[in-house]
Amino acid sequence: MRRCRKKRQHRTKNNPSDAMPKCGNTGDIVDQMSGNQPRVLVTGAAGYIGSHTCIELLGNGFEVIGVDNFDNSEPVVLDRIAELAGRAIDFVELDIRDTDKLRAVVAEYQPTAVIHFAGLKAVGESVEKPHRYWSVNVGGTLSLLDAIDGSAVERFIFSSSCTVYGDPANVPVTEETKVAPISPYGRTKLAAEQAIIDCLSTRDCGGLLLRYFNPVGAHPSGRIGEDPVGIPNNLMPFAMQVAVGRRAALSIFGNDYDTPDGTCIRDYIHVVDLALGHVAALSTATTAGECDVVNLGTGTGSSVLEVVQAAGDAVGTPIAFEIVDRRAGDAAVVYSDTSKAREVLGWTATRDIGDMCRDHWLWQSQNPDGYN
Ligand code: NAD
Ligand code: UFG
Repeated sequence: MRRCRKKRQHRTKNNPSDAMPKCGNTGDIVDQMSGNQPRVLVTGAAGYIGSHTCIELLGNGFEVIGVDNFDNSEPVVLDRIAELAGRAIDFVELDIRDTDKLRAVVAEYQPTAVIHFAGLKAVGESVEKPHRYWSVNVGGTLSLLDAIDGSAVERFIFSSSCTVYGDPANVPVTEETKVAPISPYGRTKLAAEQAIIDCLSTRDCGGLLLRYFNPVGAHPSGRIGEDPVGIPNNLMPFAMQVAVGRRAALSIFGNDYDTPDGTCIRDYIHVVDLALGHVAALSTATTAGECDVVNLGTGTGSSVLEVVQAAGDAVGTPIAFEIVDRRAGDAAVVYSDTSKAREVLGWTATRDIGDMCRDHWLWQSQNPDGYN
């Protein structure tokens, strides 16, 4: 087990102001956790959403124990987290399917909450390598559930996806919308949700299953951001790689949808808002043995052409694009109903598409080749 215990500043138990949330909508985190020093085990801590969440957790007084196998991330992100947060996370390199190593981490650090980001997320790859997706996304989740069994963990937060809704018949998408995933990736996220619901039902632990819409953007410092391997599958990273000169032009997949400008509409959410949603989830009352599902989006849909325009505005130069055929499996319009997130978590996204493009561009322009 490679272990990286970064030097960290210890908070004093008699200085509760150190642990108060900075985002203003999370309540008193410490009182609602069982211990004085809230400790959170973050799987996939080095990834895109995990790294941004670690910074917000550290900024809100949490102790963070991160684990990751760097399958889709780089160790240098741990240094950048420390640089931005002013203190480091504890970190252990491991594969979440290694239950014994994971159990040893839980025994050593005694976390009271888990945020489970680690997983694979590429829809196309999941079609080509379905076993890999079931192994990591479902097998990894089962391993984690095994490793925390009998531990002090009383809250389990899971990274799910709006992909579980497939092509929804109606928008906005509520948590009651029928789930009907259309890819192996989506089915593994739904299966992991169901495993968590069943396994926690017999334990002193409550769950929050957070279904993210389309995370984009980066930390406003431009020091951390999304660094996709190979050709980006997703709109914003592709557009930004065009802007930085790594790709010639963006292909827009269809402009003949039944939408105002003919291109698909999605609910893009700034990754920092998403990270703050997890801070809020850590202070939300949960009931032992029960899980609740919450959508995390902005409730605002943006078309592909609107995003491309906003990205060009942020860059200062239009993004070159061409219209090509539709991509198989794309829904025309998907955006979230945000009322449950507001009611249950007391959380609302505050950053708009202009903020998302500005911050994504800052990251991409300062790191044209990502972390490499
Ligand atoms: P990411 O790939 O940047 O981060 C995932 C992290 O998990 C990576 O650092 C990777 O190295 C690690 N990991 C993968 N397999 C592992 C294993 N077996 N053991 C230990 N670590 C492992 O992805 P992300 O965008 O940060 O997504 C985080 C989570 O959110 C994923 O579960 C994903 O399914 C979910 N999600 C992401 C999006 C999105 O568009 N980014 C949308 C909805 C849901
Ligand atoms: N798009 C293009 N060109 C590209 C990439 C995307 O036109 O090069 C279009 C797509 O056709 C779609 C929109 O931009 O209309 C957004 O596409 P993304 O691939 O960025 O995002 P998706 O909504 O297709 O889905 C992604 C993940 C899902 C996940 C969802 C929400 O692939 O698994 O975000 O998190 F569920």
